[in-house]
Amino acid sequence: MPNAPHHSPSRPAPAALSLSDVDFSYAGAQTVFQGLKLAVSPGEFVVLLGPSGCGKSTLLNLLSGFMAPDRGAVRVNAHEVYPEMPELGYVFQAPQLFPWLNVLDNVRFGLKMVAALPAGEQVAKAMHYLRLVGLDDAAHKWPHQLSGGMRQRVSLARALAPEPSLLLADEPFAALDVMSRRHMNEELLRLWSELGQTVVFVTHDIDEAVFLADRVVVLGRAPQGIDSELHIDLPRPRRVLQTSRLPRFLEYRDHLLDRIDHVTRIPA
Ligand SMILES: Nc1ncnc2c1ncn2[C@@H]1O[C@H](COP(=O)(O)OP(=O)(O)OP(=O)(O)O)[C@@H](O)[C@H]1O
Ligand SMILES: [Mg+2]
Repeated sequence: MPNAPHHSPSRPAPAALSLSDVDFSYAGAQTVFQGLKLAVSPGEFVVLLGPSGCGKSTLLNLLSGFMAPDRGAVRVNAHEVYPEMPELGYVFQAPQLFPWLNVLDNVRFGLKMVAALPAGEQVAKAMHYLRLVGLDDAAHKWPHQLSGGMRQRVSLARALAPEPSLLLADEPFAALDVMSRRHMNEELLRLWSELGQTVVFVTHDIDEAVFLADRVVVLGRAPQGIDSELHIDLPRPRRVLQTSRLPRFLEYRDHLLDRIDHVTRIPA
C-alpha cells in the first residue's frame, strides 16, 4: 500500500512518476527500451528486478532526468523531468563519494544542495543519518579508508539526509554482509514509513525485493522492457526474520524465481 497517509505536511509531498511510450538507446548501441510504460504512485515502494544489462540503471537515470528519452515522456508530478525536478535522492550503483571530503562533509554536501540550513544543523542532521547507517564512528574518515559496504552506506546517508520526496537506489546494499543488509533493509523501511517518500529501488536479490516492495517490476532482456509485475501484499511494519517466514512471502519468492528464470534464459 502506498505510504502517503503517513506523510508529514511539513515535507514536500512524495513524487508521482510516469514513463509513457519511452524509447531509449545509447548512441550507436543496442536499443534498451522501446515503448516502455510505467507509473509509480506517490509514496509507493517499487523494486526493479531483472538480468544484468536489462536497463535497470538506465531506467533510474531516465527517472532522475540525468538522461533524456529518445521518444516518449518521463514525468514527475505530471511535469517532464526537465526542468521540474522534485527533491531527489540518488544512490548510484557505484558509490560516488567526493574523495577530497571526509565522510561527514560528503553527507553534508547533499544538505547544502537543497536547504539553507545553518552549519550546526547540517552537522547534526548529517550525524543523525550517519548513525542510522551505523557509521557515526567513521564521520572523520576519508572515502579511501572505507570498505565498499561502508562507502555504499555513506552514499545512502548522503541521499537520505535532505529527506527527498523521491529516492532512487541502485543496488545500494550489494556490498554488505547478510546481517548488515538485513539491518539496513529494516532501517530503510522504518525511515520510509516516517518520511513517506516515493522509492524506486534496484536489486538482484529476490528476498530483498519481496521484503521491501509494495510492487516488484521484473524487466526482461533489453529491449523487452517490463516482463511482469507483482504486488506484495504483506503486513507492515516488516521484520526480516518474521516476514520472510510467512507462507505468502515464500509464494511471492517462488513466483519471482520463476519469472527471473524465464527472463534470463537465453533464447534458443
Ligand atoms: N554509457 C553507456 N553507453 C553505451 N551502452 C551502455 C551505457 N550504459 C549502459 N549501456 C548498455 O545499456 C544496457 C543497459 O545497461 P544498464 O546499466 O541499464 O543495465 P542494468 O540492468 O543496470 O545492469 P546491471 O544489473 O549489470 O547493473 C546494457 O546493454 C549496457 O551495455
Ligand atoms: Mg545497473
